[in-house]
Amino acid sequence: MAKNLHHHHQHQSKNNICTKFVFFVSFACLVGLACIVNVLWASSFSFSSPYLNVVYNWVSQKPRLFVVPRAEEEEPNIADKIGDGILERKTGRVAERFLSATFADLPAPDLPWEQMPSAPVPRLDGSSIQIKNLFYVLSGYGTLDYVHSHVDVFNFTDNTWCGRFDAPKDMANSHLGVASDGRYIYVISGQYGPQCRSPTARTFVLDTQTRRWSSLPPLPAPRYAPATQLWRGRLNVMGGSKENRHTPGLEHWSIAVKDGKALEKEWRTEIPIPRGGPHRACVVVNDRLFVIGGQEGDFMAKPGSPIFKCSRRKEVVYSDVYMLDAKMKKWEVLPPLPKPNSHIECSWVIVNNSIIITGGTTEKHPVNKRMMLVGEVFQFRLDSLTWSVIGKLPYRIKTTLAGFWDGYLYFTSGQRDRGPDNPQPKMVVGEMWRAKLNL
Ligand SMILES: *[C@@H]1O[C@H](CO)[C@@H](O)[C@H](O)[C@H]1NC(C)=O
Ligand SMILES: *[C@@H]1O[C@H](CO)[C@@H](O)[C@H](O)[C@H]1NC(C)=O
Repeated sequence: MAKNLHHHHQHQSKNNICTKFVFFVSFACLVGLACIVNVLWASSFSFSSPYLNVVYNWVSQKPRLFVVPRAEEEEPNIADKIGDGILERKTGRVAERFLSATFADLPAPDLPWEQMPSAPVPRLDGSSIQIKNLFYVLSGYGTLDYVHSHVDVFNFTDNTWCGRFDAPKDMANSHLGVASDGRYIYVISGQYGPQCRSPTARTFVLDTQTRRWSSLPPLPAPRYAPATQLWRGRLNVMGGSKENRHTPGLEHWSIAVKDGKALEKEWRTEIPIPRGGPHRACVVVNDRLFVIGGQEGDFMAKPGSPIFKCSRRKEVVYSDVYMLDAKMKKWEVLPPLPKPNSHIECSWVIVNNSIIITGGTTEKHPVNKRMMLVGEVFQFRLDSLTWSVIGKLPYRIKTTLAGFWDGYLYFTSGQRDRGPDNPQPKMVVGEMWRAKLNL
């Protein structure tokens, strides 16, 4: 090899060497200039604009060697697994050189996160409802083959997990639609069983004072991760996916409820939401109903699989925000999220006339097509209808369950990233964190 190189050099003309030297000097100048520009950006602009910061990240990060799956078309039958909390595509692996995918993170200030006691179990796609100082955390996957069927309770006053009780055996185990009036927790449809089984139409209500469950009239059709809220005495349920977990539903139904009981025999049809699909935040505040983010499409059961094994399907994550006012005649389109965001059903709180959203998932990585998690905290001001990024989470994470107590933003559970340089999902966690907010 060395001999060959030597041989090669001997045959280069003087002219060629000269050209190469000039080229080398120009290249060195360019690198030097890039460094100077980089320092200038870092010192003056790094938090002023998301776009500059994207460029800054690209320039400042050394190219790294990553082992990634080959970029490919979405195929219907590629198996995915969450096994021990690891979501992974079973594909051949090839080494490719490209920049860290963290360019998709938006610039965000740090928040003073403190770790609190972890939930008794790790949880993915669970749900939560806060009632005063108590935080009810419901169901969810432990692993893809094991689903929870109980409620854990966290006490914000003394920061302890202080209770656990069972859910009805025939209640869905993940992707529930949940809402509360401050005493009763309504649980609408959701996925029944592990892997990628279908949703159920069954609907339940929990009296948090007696911890007794009862049932309500089933939804007109099963829904997976429907947007759900209690508004003006009516449970409102819309969007989500249909029975196959993948096809977006646009339907919107409501039923009058009071003190944990349905006042009507059947659900009523309301104006359909302009865009269907699961994993959206649904918030009622100032007598308006907001539906934020989400996606169209999701994993579905592999045809013929006896265990309903999850297989990947095409998904589109979006940043749409819709609002319905009390007349409920027409959906209004509001300013979009700072980036597409999904898996945020219970990742929001209302603080000081703002909606705060923690984490989620954004569009697939453009090269390796993998799911990318979100590590930002977003604020939507209800007075000006504007979005901003107000902080970073301790790591990127989806399906967080968020609460707010005594000035602190809390979140627990979900599936976190593989590390600062890798926004793909890995461990399912039960960790609980809190940070003082200052809006
Ligand atoms: C929550 O903690 C406070 C302070 O320790 C305590 O007074 C209260 O009884 C607790 N609530 C429950 C339901 O455990
Ligand atoms: C909410 O607003 C009040 C009054 O302006 C302020 O004292 C409080 O710190 C704010 N809370 C947060 C979490 O920013």
